[in-house]
Amino acid sequence: MHLTVSPAHQPLRGELTLPGDKSLSHRAALFAALTHGESQIANFLDAGVTRPLLEALRALGIPWALEGTTLRVQGRGLAGLPRPAATPTLHCGHSATTMRLLAGFLAAAGLPAVLDGSPGLRRRPMRRVTDPLRAMGAPIRDTDGHAPLMLAARPAHRRLRGITYRLPVASAQVKTALLLAALAADTPTTLTEPAPSRDHTERMFAALGLPLERPAPLTVRLTPPLPPRIPPLRLTLPGDISSAAFLLTAAAITPGSRITLRRVLLNPGRTGFLDALQQMGAALEITPRGKTYGEPYGDITLAHTPHLHGITVAGDLVVRMVDEFPAFAIAAAAAQGETIVRDAAELRHKESDRIAAIVTRLHRLGAAAEALPDGFRIHGGQPWHGGVLDGGGDHRIAMAFAVAGLAAQAPITVQHADIIAQSFPAFAESLQRLGAPVAAHGGEAAP
Ligand code: S3P
Repeated sequence: MHLTVSPAHQPLRGELTLPGDKSLSHRAALFAALTHGESQIANFLDAGVTRPLLEALRALGIPWALEGTTLRVQGRGLAGLPRPAATPTLHCGHSATTMRLLAGFLAAAGLPAVLDGSPGLRRRPMRRVTDPLRAMGAPIRDTDGHAPLMLAARPAHRRLRGITYRLPVASAQVKTALLLAALAADTPTTLTEPAPSRDHTERMFAALGLPLERPAPLTVRLTPPLPPRIPPLRLTLPGDISSAAFLLTAAAITPGSRITLRRVLLNPGRTGFLDALQQMGAALEITPRGKTYGEPYGDITLAHTPHLHGITVAGDLVVRMVDEFPAFAIAAAAAQGETIVRDAAELRHKESDRIAAIVTRLHRLGAAAEALPDGFRIHGGQPWHGGVLDGGGDHRIAMAFAVAGLAAQAPITVQHADIIAQSFPAFAESLQRLGAPVAAHGGEAAP
């Protein structure tokens, strides 16, 4: 499927509620398996990145059903998981979150498995999770630092060891994998990060009554034993702020726009993009509406302002908007003056090398941009032309450059746009509902 977005001839207007946050969907589905009873997770994100996790749960003997967007999972606790007769191969698709979280979960459960994924996922770094898991006594191997990952069975009487570990990179996926493994350790696990990655696991563990503390801002500690019974989850997931970023960018670059996104996740570890937009001069109204399982959510209204200006993004703000740089780059290209992103070398290890992916595509559109070893520089405010670009096998790159069509001089067609369904299957429809000229056409069927 290809997606063509034409220059906007009218403002974007309207209100939307978005599908559940991707990070929360992954955690809620997996952590439900730790609990005892039926979890009910409403507004679950049914998308390319969550399906492999659901299929893995089924292969591990954890029953679930998806009715509309409500996911029900029958949890029997870690100890209640059946031992498989043969080692299952669990396909994680394109989802690094699925692979890294499952590695920690399986290490805790002591179950054997092979974790594999798409060619793109096989290129993502995995030693960051296998090294510390092995240090905890988990029998896990990687393939030259990459997937496939091989976990051997661990006898129930042999517990894992807690570790005191300083993560070399800020990564919520690694932190979560280690906190999951820590559930099966006989001593405390203390993790310290170089910068504050998203803390959804900490919030959900605490809400489930798991023995977790935060002795310092960048440190988290889990101290066994676990409570004998963990209550099932009952929640409605807030909308995905990372998906919201594309719609907010669309409105920020389309004159006269005013859009409201309702019930969006507002965890401060995820709102860096909103801060960046505000620093650029965007008019945002953020109205908190409540909290669920420790996660704040609320409504976001963006009214277009004509004078966005370039900014510098570095340090902790990078971590707080780590998935938003493709969208941010389009806002920066529309803003007057220079935008600089530093301290963002992690972007080279996402679904694509996002620094290269952003800069090469901006060049193709005639916009001025430059790659830096740990970020990029954009000279914004110049008009860009339309054309045909490839999604690059990266859902967020595909969405960002589709949105760029709204402010281009001619339509932009993003080829192989099926990849968008990895995280935001309703992307094109959502833009259309706000009044954007979007057309899907041709190409091969979704993978
Ligand atoms: C995620 C953490 C981030 C993020 C990813 C989802 C999570 O990755 O980029 O989309 O749900 O924990 P890292 O842990 O590699 O920073």
